[in-house]
Amino acid sequence: MDLTRLIYVSQPFGFDDAILSGILLDARKNNKRDSITGALVCRQDIYLQLLEGPETEVLAAFERISRDDRHLEIRKLVSRPVHDRIFGDWAMLHDPAKSWIWTQSELSEGALDNATPEEIEKVFENLAERVKNVSSV
Ligand SMILES: Cc1cc2nc3c(=O)[nH]c(=O)nc-3n(C[C@H](O)[C@H](O)[C@H](O)COP(=O)(O)O)c2cc1C
Repeated sequence: MDLTRLIYVSQPFGFDDAILSGILLDARKNNKRDSITGALVCRQDIYLQLLEGPETEVLAAFERISRDDRHLEIRKLVSRPVHDRIFGDWAMLHDPAKSWIWTQSELSEGALDNATPEEIEKVFENLAERVKNVSSV
């Protein structure tokens, strides 16, 4: 089946555990319905999310997400057809960004603007590799 993979970055607005839980609840409920899988890397200063699934559903989810006031400065980084999912088992994996992603100062110095789409996808491939043996949600 042909799939679309979309990755965007945004700036959390009002980031705390309760907000994050609410986002993940919405995401997992809808994504199960829409055959979307993916991962949300989140930290005080960044959301970096990968969505993959049927094109229509992924674009519709991104439309809703773009209008969500729980984040700002939403910027699409990657959008392309793919044959395989990276996060096949995960309606939305949540990962608190640790040292393996860019630091806050690297980000403010434009690390993401200088990264190629391949490098950005690699962040998620590494994440999937790290969680391979963890039970999925
Ligand atoms: C950082 C972030 C990530 C989100 N991820 C998803 C997602 O993967 N799928 C989804 O359907 N909604 C996601 N949402 C929620 C949507 O913006 C929106 O609130 C939701 O899709 C509306 O669902 P409803 O129509 O069932 O109320 C996300 C929101 C934020 C702020």
